[in-house]
Amino acid sequence: MTQKRVLSGIQPTSDSFHLGNYLGAVKQWVELQDGHDAFYCIVDLHALTGEIEPALLRKRTLASAAQLIALGISPEKSTLFVQSQVPQHNQLGWLMECIAGFGEASRMTQFKDKSSKAGADSARVGLFTYPMLQAADILLYQAHLVPVGEDQRQHIELTRDLAGRFNTRFGETFRVPDNFILKTAAKIQDLQDPAAKMSKSSGSVAGVLEIMDTLEANAKKIKSATTDAGREIKFDEKEKPGISNLLTIHSALSGVAIEKLEVEFEGKGYGDFKSVVADVVVEYLRPIRSAALELLDDEKSLIDILHVGGAKARDVASSTLDLAYKNLGVVR
Ligand code: AMP
Ligand code: TRP
Repeated sequence: MTQKRVLSGIQPTSDSFHLGNYLGAVKQWVELQDGHDAFYCIVDLHALTGEIEPALLRKRTLASAAQLIALGISPEKSTLFVQSQVPQHNQLGWLMECIAGFGEASRMTQFKDKSSKAGADSARVGLFTYPMLQAADILLYQAHLVPVGEDQRQHIELTRDLAGRFNTRFGETFRVPDNFILKTAAKIQDLQDPAAKMSKSSGSVAGVLEIMDTLEANAKKIKSATTDAGREIKFDEKEKPGISNLLTIHSALSGVAIEKLEVEFEGKGYGDFKSVVADVVVEYLRPIRSAALELLDDEKSLIDILHVGGAKARDVASSTLDLAYKNLGVVR
């Protein structure tokens, strides 16, 4: 039996992924590489819907690639590529725009949130058409599964609707992907404000553990994490959100169950506990960070890896696009 196809994408919008991105998404992508035909895309065109800074876009695209590889996305097992290197994304994106309704696109909550933040006059058209480009990202690869976080559920629903509509109207063209919302088992909270999720946009600098930050800086952030009243090391998200978050982080990286950690730290103080968590994080990130830095040190080889992925992606994408054009009556 052939393997199921997986496709997901991540925007190159920061110099470093944070621990939440890793545990909430990328780690699960790594696991899906085995037993699936995985395509992972750095969606640089989507990143253009935010602030456009040419030097930063380039730097962050390469940094994202280096980090994904260092975190375990293997360019041999998976097809790792940059969206803009596969022009079929824009081409199918247009076709999706031509079958999507203005009303349904207007109902996308990510668009509503981001455009209201930007203000009606500064929101750009690309932000509005973003979900149709995302649908193209997915449908070009005939993906069975699209592992994404809960926040992307509506975009995947739209993708399914657009695929179904196209197939019904113009003949079988796209696979309608399953819903595949990543399990939020490891939801990581801000170290300074454990009521909020760890996030590069809203979080405090001191509350976010960045993969590319120095090991010393990350150790310091853990040692100065907000703790809770009382002195017990117990998992209790309501009463002890800070300690619970640190237990989650330790357990996710060490593989030791939280209940075992509670026993191990019985009678110990918060200070000792935080030192141990800091060590676990530092030792986990040490080889990852140095692998990423090494990849970034040889930009040409890194770009070569992305070119190989891009060529594989174009192969698959162009046959889907051809079929879509043919079914639409476009002369080829
Ligand atoms: P973002 O770039 O912030 O949209 O994050 C990309 C993906 O990383 C999300 O769709 C989530 O799956 C995951 N993620 C981000 N922040 C966290 C977090 N604090 N805890 C767990 N997963 C997260
Ligand atoms: N919109 C997604 C996000 O913000 C990123 C993305 C773009 C994506 N294209 C995709 C995710 C295709 C999955 C599949 O996280």
